[in-house]
Amino acid sequence: MAIERTLAIIKPDAVGRGLTGEILSRIHAAKFYIIAIKTRRLTRKEAEGFYAVHRERPFFEELTTFMSTSKVVVMVLEAENAIAKWREVMGATDPAKAAPGTIRKELGASIQYNCTHGSDATDTAALEISYFFSGSELV
Ligand code: CMP
Repeated sequence: MAIERTLAIIKPDAVGRGLTGEILSRIHAAKFYIIAIKTRRLTRKEAEGFYAVHRERPFFEELTTFMSTSKVVVMVLEAENAIAKWREVMGATDPAKAAPGTIRKELGASIQYNCTHGSDATDTAALEISYFFSGSELV
């Protein structure tokens, strides 16, 4: 298994409900190394750019409004197999379908308000990391 990096976001619903510490604890418990971390309030344009792949989906407008309403925490996580591993810790996109013990199952409110984001493949991880972090922040 390769050492990988993935982009993780704690979304506005989770930050607003005071769940940042709980989610960071789970990241530590799962033995990810946090390479970089910052809080940001995304502009509408940044949210639209980040989720551009979903532009044609019916939930795009609602999603990008939600993601730009208040602060998020963006992070680069490193671990063996980090992309799949973070997706496992988060659970399925829809909290109702997520496995027991996962972040989305235990903390998520709905398919939109699902607390966290994670990259889904190596190419998207590289793209998403570079969307928020410069090279000098990643050494
Ligand atoms: P995320 O993993 O960040 O990727 C895209 C996001 O769109 C997803 O989490 C959800 O927050 C949101 N999303 C996906 N499907 C739906 C849906 N059917 N309705 C509303 N939001 C959705």
